[in-house]
Amino acid sequence: MQPVNPPPRLLMGPGPINADPRVLRAMSATLVGQYDAAMTAYMGETQSLYRQVFRTGNDATVLVDGTARAGIEAALVSLLEPGDRVLVLIFGRFGHLLTEIAARCGAEVHAVEAPWGAVVDPAEVERAVLRTRPKLVATVQGDTSTTMCQPLAEIGEICRRHDVLLYADVTASLGGNAFEMDGWGVDAATAGLQKCLAGPSGSAPLSLSSRAVDVIRGRSHVEAGIREDGDPERGVRIASNYFDLAMVLDYWGPRRLNHHTEATSMLYAAHECARILVEEGLDAAVARHRLHGQALLAGVEALGLVLFGDRRHRMHNVLAVEIPAGVDGEAVRSALLADYGIEIGTSFGPLRGRVWRIGTMGYNARRDAVLVTLAALEQVLRQAGCSPLAGAGVAAAREVYAG
Ligand SMILES: Cc1ncc(COP(=O)(O)O)c(C=O)c1O
Repeated sequence: MQPVNPPPRLLMGPGPINADPRVLRAMSATLVGQYDAAMTAYMGETQSLYRQVFRTGNDATVLVDGTARAGIEAALVSLLEPGDRVLVLIFGRFGHLLTEIAARCGAEVHAVEAPWGAVVDPAEVERAVLRTRPKLVATVQGDTSTTMCQPLAEIGEICRRHDVLLYADVTASLGGNAFEMDGWGVDAATAGLQKCLAGPSGSAPLSLSSRAVDVIRGRSHVEAGIREDGDPERGVRIASNYFDLAMVLDYWGPRRLNHHTEATSMLYAAHECARILVEEGLDAAVARHRLHGQALLAGVEALGLVLFGDRRHRMHNVLAVEIPAGVDGEAVRSALLADYGIEIGTSFGPLRGRVWRIGTMGYNARRDAVLVTLAALEQVLRQAGCSPLAGAGVAAAREVYAG
């Protein structure tokens, strides 16, 4: 057995991406006990940093230990009880994931769908809200499977108007596309580190409005063994212990009521991811992702590739291009990886084998990463039988950078 020594890679797919070396360094810091004053201070700082990242004043801003999907499960299982109606916006694979998780919570799931490559029309959402009268509207902001970014401000207004809670999965979009938790009236949002936050997967930042907290606190059940006199036993018990956000909030809150053992190294990572973003400034980080996304788009189009999906609603940090007819998409991906150490993605379901997804996000939203990817892609496309104009991709991207 050899020591872990992975090959060098430039991860330019839909995420995960290369973690910022500062995040990896933070993860190697020494461990402290979970109630050590140093640890609880880091937890407090992490909460405050993520309030800035989510753009919220929500006190209930914490980490769920697990990948982004853990954050989604925690939010949905804690908010939804069997029989609750939920309206899910589906415009790609991750909208389907929300319906799958909501159904497992025993909710009555309704959906508004848009074709892959488009986003959902808010007017349709309002009609569906009036028809189904849900407790919760659930949506993804940036669905990496299609690279579309759902505008949320109007959805938030609709939810306020009809007194419905709004949940958003911002895993793939946070930090690289504008997100205003309070400004847009989002009640619950969850994320992951492995996209624009420049970390590894394994921690899920989550924030809850006071309305969402009231719903969750209405289902508080303190575990036998740590329960004290006067502890509430309210409502329908949340169906998961690990993802019971009422208990997770008590663990992060002043009572520090024992639940899981916080994943210390992941907390260091999440802390450093947010610290770096806040130091850069959220608006500057979004502008950086927009710039490198535009350069990448100009470059791939100059290489003769065709953008997939509605250009107006493209995420800044990942784009999809159609695999040219007659080209073996997997052979191109393999050659990029084998000869240049560069990873790009394909997609899922109806788009599997139809598009490549190329990302420029987090630590890899950088000029050198974009230019090197375009240079390598040109060579690999030529090898695959295409005739890209020599140097055209890099030149078009450089023009974007030249402004
Ligand atoms: C929009 C979105 N939601 C959820 C997930 C799931 O994240 P994880 O694999 O970290 O559980 C992803 C992963 O790509 C994603 O892009």
